[in-house]
Amino acid sequence: MDHFLYRDGRLMAEDVDVAEIAASVGTPFYLYSTATLLRHYQLFDEALSWGPHLVCYAMKAASNQAILKTLGDAGAGMDVVSGGEYARAKAAGVPGDRIVFSGVGKTEEEIRLALEGGIRQFNVESEPEMRVLSQVAESLGVLAPITIRVNPDVDAKTHAKIATGKSENKFGIPIAKARAVYAEAARLRGLKVIGIDVHIGSQLTQLEPFELAYQKVAELTEQLRADGHEISRLDLGGGLGIPYARSNEAPPLPTDYGALVQRTVGHLGCEIEIEPGRLIAGNAGILVSRVIYVKEGEGRKFLILDGAMNDLIRPAMYDAHHEIVPVVEAAAAAELSPYDIVGPVCESGDTFAKGRLMPPLSDGDLVAFRSAGAYGAVMASEYNTRPLVPEVMVNGDQFAVIRQRPTFDEIINRDTIPEWL
Ligand code: LLP
Repeated sequence: MDHFLYRDGRLMAEDVDVAEIAASVGTPFYLYSTATLLRHYQLFDEALSWGPHLVCYAMKAASNQAILKTLGDAGAGMDVVSGGEYARAKAAGVPGDRIVFSGVGKTEEEIRLALEGGIRQFNVESEPEMRVLSQVAESLGVLAPITIRVNPDVDAKTHAKIATGKSENKFGIPIAKARAVYAEAARLRGLKVIGIDVHIGSQLTQLEPFELAYQKVAELTEQLRADGHEISRLDLGGGLGIPYARSNEAPPLPTDYGALVQRTVGHLGCEIEIEPGRLIAGNAGILVSRVIYVKEGEGRKFLILDGAMNDLIRPAMYDAHHEIVPVVEAAAAAELSPYDIVGPVCESGDTFAKGRLMPPLSDGDLVAFRSAGAYGAVMASEYNTRPLVPEVMVNGDQFAVIRQRPTFDEIINRDTIPEWL
């Protein structure tokens, strides 16, 4: 559920009229709802309330400082995957002991940054990384708390580009090798082994792959304990999907997921961490765009928007479906007709939808892409020198620009001309 609902035929973001924000900010822009972000965080928090836990928001989904501060102030931890994300989490006031560091290629500099600034744990993904981490920690005279990410060889049944839990994927260490790797970790002097990490993919719409993976983690916990390791924390990753198309069957809810976690690993007495990104931010954000032209093509109509693939890459990259709705609803009786919905970028891939049934729309009308809060703004670029799309946040009846649209001069002045020119 989200807080982008129609009132008297006009799309509202909580209690703010989306068209009014568009008039003040210009289009395109991302718009986030504070209430939706908090509700999604709280749903997970409640779903795990049967035991000690921390919901670490996977901030790669949407990492604006205002979003991080909203969630961090509510008690969320953060899952970071780069030095930049670590710095962002700290800048938003999240304490180090609520930050977990994931990612397959952490550099020495990133490791040092996190060890010096404070960290809850590193989720280690390989033996070479484990050795470097130990060396850096020793050189700083500290112990690095770690889990090791195991790859359970489970099919997440999601898009190939976002599945991570099969043995052919680059993530984690094969679960069959885990006992040997934990044995080495225990010998390394800069490390303190505290648990196990697993993450099998994103936009999972069934519970079964989670169940298979978590059962394997439960078995491994018992084996590793028998080997003498202290396993007190399980990081179970993120990945729970959201309904992108209203017609589709809805994916399981956080409550179902929480019950599954309890059923599979609850008996082990471990502290549970999860790393949801999409489910927290996805339906908490929309992308608002304006129709530049309605163009009659050969046997089809194009809706040419001022938003493009550089602003929202998901349809071009994953063939993702986003609902596209008018910001001001047409009369109830209006007939739907098919449109190809495209942006102005010079590639045919700059297509959001083909033959999408829409109510009549004209030049200048506003549309909103639903479910665009996760992996939207963070994956935007300035391709075609289109200014990085701004971000706006609503809270009740107030709104604020949380990232400005850069001016052309700001964009151009980021370049420097070498002195020989
Ligand atoms: N933890 C780890 C280690 C991850 O790699 C990810 C996502 C998450 C947590 C959060 O997963 P979520 O709850 O958001 O599904 N750009 C793609 C999604 C990439 C996901 C990458 N990793 C998209 O737009 O669909």
